[in-house]
Amino acid sequence: MERRKILLGIATAPGWLPRICAAQAKTSVWIPLSRLAEPWSSVEFTYPAADPVPGIIVRLRDGTLYAASRICPHQSCQLLYRTDKQEISDTFEVEVGNPVLACPCHFSVFDLAQKGKVLNGPAPRGPVTFELKVAGDRVTVLKMEGER
Ligand code: FES
Repeated sequence: MERRKILLGIATAPGWLPRICAAQAKTSVWIPLSRLAEPWSSVEFTYPAADPVPGIIVRLRDGTLYAASRICPHQSCQLLYRTDKQEISDTFEVEVGNPVLACPCHFSVFDLAQKGKVLNGPAPRGPVTFELKVAGDRVTVLKMEGER
């Protein structure tokens, strides 16, 4: 199946741009790398599937990119990206040295520095991940884990 092209993260994009992108036969999600320049910078996106999937890309401290679904693997609540260590400790009762994805429903916490490892809560696994491709000045979300 081909995917439509969706341009994300350009708040100043002309109003006509999304219509042109939506009209294209091939769909992909791409983000300017400049938006992910700093460690722990993040960009949220929506992966175009039959049931669109909210996702997030995070620049990890070691410079690599990590992309995951923001759907909790426990009971599908939407995950939050949290960077404040004190808030993470107070709200989710986990002591971490870096930002996490956290679930507001049953307080599962996923360690981004460990590729989504479950640190706390009932989630049976980390969030579904996305395969990325970096080329030129953009990162493209190629496919979702388990997708052909
Ligand atoms: S839905 Fe996320 S921990 Fe239950």
